[in-house]
Amino acid sequence: MVPEPSSPVARLPEHVAIIMDGNGRWAAERGLSRSEGHRAGSLRLSEIIEACLDRDIKHLTVYALSTENWSRPTDEIDFLLLLMDERLRAERRRIFRNRIRVCVLGSLDRLPPALRLTIKQLQMATANFDRFTLNIAFNYGGRSEIVRAVRKLMRAEPNLEAVTEERLADYLYTAGQPDPDLVIRTGGELRLSNFLLWQSAYAEYWWTPTLWPDFGPELLDKALDEFRLRQRRFGHAPTDSPRVSGR
Ligand code: FPP
Repeated sequence: MVPEPSSPVARLPEHVAIIMDGNGRWAAERGLSRSEGHRAGSLRLSEIIEACLDRDIKHLTVYALSTENWSRPTDEIDFLLLLMDERLRAERRRIFRNRIRVCVLGSLDRLPPALRLTIKQLQMATANFDRFTLNIAFNYGGRSEIVRAVRKLMRAEPNLEAVTEERLADYLYTAGQPDPDLVIRTGGELRLSNFLLWQSAYAEYWWTPTLWPDFGPELLDKALDEFRLRQRRFGHAPTDSPRVSGR
């Protein structure tokens, strides 16, 4: 269903999604290993989650590992798997204190059993928290998510008439959540990289050359300020109001 256009003096986004790019370059600039870049990126993520809570944003989705990332060197992938487990455990108390619901978007099949367990336990334990939702796209790909959803829908209702936008959305990893209003990409690239392809159909896009480990709350505020200036039309005709474009 296509939402109604927003007023140009828009509100805060309810759902922000971030492609956290640039950890490797950040590390290389400092003569550090890529792993150290990812570690710095993970600490930055904790700070940005706090900033989203402070700003009353309700949903944050971050791209932490794509299905394509498995082609990276084994030691880098192994480190990302370990880091995910370590960070989820380290943040457990803060997650509970802030009533954060944690959802991992992506297939758990290929993940080490210990990490699968950490994820499943955290998802179950936080399933009823409703202050804030943290979606971590991990071993995630937008196209495979859509194919998976079609298969699940056809299995549940083997009838072509059942395939509607609304019913299909019920089988995405983000079922029941609002679509992202704002997609941010750090690291200077201008592409979606198979991230939330379905859900971002009407999202506003904002990018920065800043590398992810340097993306602080002040840059989040800049993105939010520019978002407020966008007039979201969702394909409707322009209104009389002057359109102030973002980046
Ligand atoms: C892209 O930067 C980043 C990733 C593939 C990993 C993102 C992970 C984090 C930010 C850490 C948080 C992770 C967990 C597991 C909670 P890149 O490596 O492609 O950087 P580059 O483009 O500079 O090489």
